[in-house]
Amino acid sequence: MSGEVPTASRESRVQLGQMLIIGGIAAALGVALALLIDWFPVAASEEAGPIDTLWDVLLIVSVPIFVLVTTIVLYSATRFRMRPGEELMDGPPIHGNTKLEVIWTAIPAILLVALCTYAYVVLVDIEKAEANTMEVRVVGEQFTWTFFYPGQDGEEVASPQLYLPAETPVRFTVQSKDVIHDFWVPAFRMKIDAVPGIDTELRATTTDRLGEFPVVCAELCGLGHSTMRQSAHVVSQQDFDGWLEELRAGGGDAAGGGEPEAAGSTDGEELFTSAATPAACGSCHTLAAAGTNGTTGPNLDEVVPPLDEAQIRESITDPDAEVAEGFSPGLMPRYGESLSEEQVDALVEYLMEVSGK
Ligand code: CUA
Repeated sequence: MSGEVPTASRESRVQLGQMLIIGGIAAALGVALALLIDWFPVAASEEAGPIDTLWDVLLIVSVPIFVLVTTIVLYSATRFRMRPGEELMDGPPIHGNTKLEVIWTAIPAILLVALCTYAYVVLVDIEKAEANTMEVRVVGEQFTWTFFYPGQDGEEVASPQLYLPAETPVRFTVQSKDVIHDFWVPAFRMKIDAVPGIDTELRATTTDRLGEFPVVCAELCGLGHSTMRQSAHVVSQQDFDGWLEELRAGGGDAAGGGEPEAAGSTDGEELFTSAATPAACGSCHTLAAAGTNGTTGPNLDEVVPPLDEAQIRESITDPDAEVAEGFSPGLMPRYGESLSEEQVDALVEYLMEVSGK
């Protein structure tokens, strides 16, 4: 018996060495692969940097552990599997190993505490209040966002699109009119639930990256959840001031940079078909003349023709007054609140025209 021990322990040391080498190589490949993947959309906020770094650190720490454990499990299952003729053999008895147990408890505990501390420090940093913060109130409802800015006379002004000046800290007060939504601008990396009855808060600081970034709802909130998408326009301070001035003046035409802007369109067909407008009817409704085939709401080729002008108008501004069979009330937002009067007129006229009136 005693003569076999050196051979057996040498063999098991070789096996352990093989396991660790294979695991080490696999872990290095796993980390390299994880860091090569382009996980995030463009970054357009100051918060994006620390968040993306946090993500990379989490990958660097967790991928090797996952890969190492998986590799050792696969190695062991292959290497130490039962061979023919061993069916009735029993393995060597295993007793507790206090040293091993202390190690495998202590290492994960230290890792978890360290990573939680780091993540908490990042969270405090990205949520801290900044001087000269701009205030925007965000209201979610099925299935649209409305953004409120301070007006001149203490009244708020509403916009269907989010405009923000570059390099400015913004505090969003987030609310919901109906169910739980989630206000998310992936390019800012920040998101927060919009909960009926309470105000939630989100901070983000825009960078010098100008452009249009998606605003999405990140909480399943009903049939039209996937259509609850708008845009965050980050523009120069000058363009922003101009846009806000137009919005305050009540122009449905508020635009950044003086360019024609879909959000303020008064073209009925564009309002119906373009997802960049606050109406975007086609994303939920089928209408042959517009070439749209949404099925979230009633097929307008069927329901519009019998309606007169006043009924068409009502179905846009107060959709729950009369709901088509098979559809639930509350599904369609009251567009009288997010569209200008000219835009509602344009849509009514367009629908009258294509249904042959
Ligand atoms: Cu609102 Cu999903």
